[in-house]
Amino acid sequence: TTPLRLGIAGLGTVGAGVVKIVRQKAALLSERTGRDIQVSAVSARHRDKDRGVSLADYAWEDDPVALATRDDVDVFVELMGGSDGPAKAATTAALEAGKDVVTANKAMLAHHGQALAELAEARGAILRFEAAVAGGIPVIKALTEGLAGNEITRVMGVMNGTCNYILTRMETGGLTYQDAFDEADALGYLEADPELDVGGIDAGHKLSLLSAIAYGTQVNFDAVELEGIGRVSIDDIRQAADMGYKIKLLGVSRMTGRGLEQRMAPCLVPATSPLGRLDGGTNMVVIEGDQVGQIVMRGAGAGEGPTASAVMGDVMDLARGFRISTFGQAASSLKVATPAAAATP
Ligand code: NDP
Ligand code: HSE
Repeated sequence: TTPLRLGIAGLGTVGAGVVKIVRQKAALLSERTGRDIQVSAVSARHRDKDRGVSLADYAWEDDPVALATRDDVDVFVELMGGSDGPAKAATTAALEAGKDVVTANKAMLAHHGQALAELAEARGAILRFEAAVAGGIPVIKALTEGLAGNEITRVMGVMNGTCNYILTRMETGGLTYQDAFDEADALGYLEADPELDVGGIDAGHKLSLLSAIAYGTQVNFDAVELEGIGRVSIDDIRQAADMGYKIKLLGVSRMTGRGLEQRMAPCLVPATSPLGRLDGGTNMVVIEGDQVGQIVMRGAGAGEGPTASAVMGDVMDLARGFRISTFGQAASSLKVATPAAAATP
């Protein structure tokens, strides 16, 4: 069989993690998929930076668009980040060329996911993004495959590790918001623009993607009602604790008679509930289906290993020939969902 050849743009936390798995677990990946998985070429901003892994065997491209369209690249793996700019340009170029794309870029997908998925469909390419939502938790695979026989009634969860870490440290360590924020920064949780985290925007991006997959609707990030954690004080946290509650940045998405309701905001949850007991940088996604009832998935939502794990799951599906779209159906058939908030008088 022919190898599956990757072009990887972005060699930071996630990109370097993916290269390490491809190099260190080559035999296992080949055994499990029936094909060798190889890297043909890579791209990043700084060619000489030490990535903790050898890149000597791979061609180098300064321009991610050139990388994405190389003849020796079957799958373009976009791990640069940013909603527009080179990530969108290179992803578009790869799909235009009929190449499959795997990305972890929730910001790009929340804003352009619908158009990119329709482009993929038109070109016979597959666009996959398991790592974009809740890092290592395979929630997209669960929704599109294992739970495909259900009507999903509600999706909710804690999808930003930075915010959960900050709230946890304020509560258990008595830290100020700023000290807890600085700790999260030191652990590498923060996005390049931290406002994406603490403003609830990153978690809102993820919720908009899950909503689209769960209800077969087009991605509509603008319809997510957003509130971040910037106004949560130590006093709020103490008062909640006195009543047996914790404050979590909770996303909830459900289809109501009035349309799709998507909210991301600090919420009170019972301290002894699974969500209440979710401490630190961990994520939790709760899915409710009409047949299955409630499913709870908990795990690392960020970091090199967990995020690269999700990227590799997508790559390995492509190596096996599983050409299942992330939405579980054709992007062009996704419904336009009326935002429930707009229907409220
Ligand atoms: P990093 O900032 O660690 O790495 C980004 C990489 O992209 C760097 O190697 C950088 O190059 C490269 N890059 C940036 N701009 C360009 C450009 N214009 N041309 C070529 N290369 C460029 O990001 P992460 O690895 O943390 O994140 C990657 C993606 O994964 C993002 O979309 C992020 O939101 C997503 N993600 C990250 C998670 C995490 O835990 N880190 C979890 C889930 C998703 P250089 O190194 O030379 O500066
Ligand atoms: N900044 C994000 C978080 C990274 O804290 O969850 C993973 O998407």
